[in-house]
Amino acid sequence: MSSEAMPLSPASVPAGEIQRYTFQERLCHWFSALTYVYCLLTGLAFYTPYLFWIAVLLGSGATSRFWHPIVGLGFLVSILWMHSLWRRDMTISGKDKQWLDQVNNYATNRDNLVPPQDRFNAGQKLFYWVMFWGTILLLISGLLMWFPEYISFRVAWIRSLAVLTHECAALITIGAFIIHVYMGLFLVPGSGRAMVRGHVPAAWARVHHRLWYDRVAGKPSST
Ligand code: HEM
Repeated sequence: MSSEAMPLSPASVPAGEIQRYTFQERLCHWFSALTYVYCLLTGLAFYTPYLFWIAVLLGSGATSRFWHPIVGLGFLVSILWMHSLWRRDMTISGKDKQWLDQVNNYATNRDNLVPPQDRFNAGQKLFYWVMFWGTILLLISGLLMWFPEYISFRVAWIRSLAVLTHECAALITIGAFIIHVYMGLFLVPGSGRAMVRGHVPAAWARVHHRLWYDRVAGKPSST
């Protein structure tokens, strides 16, 4: 559901707070996190023998190899679900370019120099699109690795390309994922609570997502 259609103050939202994520959005997000982390851990176990102990901890090498592609399909479902909920909010706009020009000020907490943002800032949008397209690459390369018997020996190089693509896409999403978790849990206080409870104090929304706050609170726009 895009923020346009999000109800402003459902009964479960305490006074002085506004709804940031609906129950469905949080369910989708945490399903995505769970399936991604499983694929990440089992994928790392297959990547290097030094990390194979992770597969053993998660059942056994064979168990991890069996579930990795199936849970990967679950992650794909979560991304498509997320896309149906957030693709409008994640559309890149001219304001995002202004935010990216000021990213140094954002990183050093000089918030007064950062242009006001809508429901998601440009960094969050970039993360989203890296995960979205990364998942598409992981899907295509993963299917080729899952069913190699359908690839003719005359084009066996496709298998090597699939392995390389899968590893590169995984490493890129892992980098983005680490930044995401760090930002969500440590750098922006209140974000974790938003994704667990679904609502945020109005002051938090005003500071971090002024344009979105103005819109959902029915205030005149800040720009
Ligand atoms: C254990 C893993 C994860 C944690 C702790 C986590 C944490 C969070 C938090 C706290 C937020 C709220 C940010 C805000 O509203 O300011 C959030 C939002 C979001 N999460 Fe996650 N997340 C995790 C995994 C994932 C995964 C695997 C994806 C895959 C696509 C994902 C995609 C998103 C997106 C698109 C948003 C909204 C935009 C953004 O804040 O970046 N998250 N997450």
